[in-house]
Amino acid sequence: LPLYAAAIILGYLLGSIPFGLLITRIAGLGDVRRIGSGNIGATNVLRTGNKKLAALTLLLDALKGTVAVLVAATWGPAFGIVAGFAAFLGHLFPVWLGFRGGKGVATYLGVLIALAWKAALVFAIVWIAIAYLTRYSSLAALLAAVAVPLSLFFWFGPASVAWLFTVMSVIVFFKHHANIRRLLDGNETRIGASG
Ligand code: G3P
Repeated sequence: LPLYAAAIILGYLLGSIPFGLLITRIAGLGDVRRIGSGNIGATNVLRTGNKKLAALTLLLDALKGTVAVLVAATWGPAFGIVAGFAAFLGHLFPVWLGFRGGKGVATYLGVLIALAWKAALVFAIVWIAIAYLTRYSSLAALLAAVAVPLSLFFWFGPASVAWLFTVMSVIVFFKHHANIRRLLDGNETRIGASG
């Protein structure tokens, strides 16, 4: 039991670091929550116009999930799964921001890279294809979040990992409710357009 608690705490603490907010603040760009969608993720950091900081946000938000899994997995595979889920939830509900965090896409990918890298490739291919075709980051993430659990159930994963990502995908959909509304209304912001 103490190791499960350690996995949860490790995952949550790593996941709850709001890199997008920190990076833009350190760069002197102000509060990223006041622009575009108000989200703290890489897509919204890109709306500051700084591609490098957006890429760095994506990298670090993903990496915190990967690191959480890899560290905890050294205690046993189940701990890796627990820490990965905790990191994802930490990103979504960081205590430091009054539990108002991000939408979880980058951290989802980072956890996936550590737990099932083949499904992470599926994520990347679907995300890039949809983003290229539509310029909608949110739609790309949502369709990738559908493809990943399917690929895990049919090809790449133990059932535990497949179920973990099913739950995480459902949460990603809930977190994108405003994006889904905008997509349906035809006024979602496209990548490259200003917020
Ligand atoms: O990963 C978040 C992305 O899917 C949507 O971001 O800022 O457009 O709400 P945003």
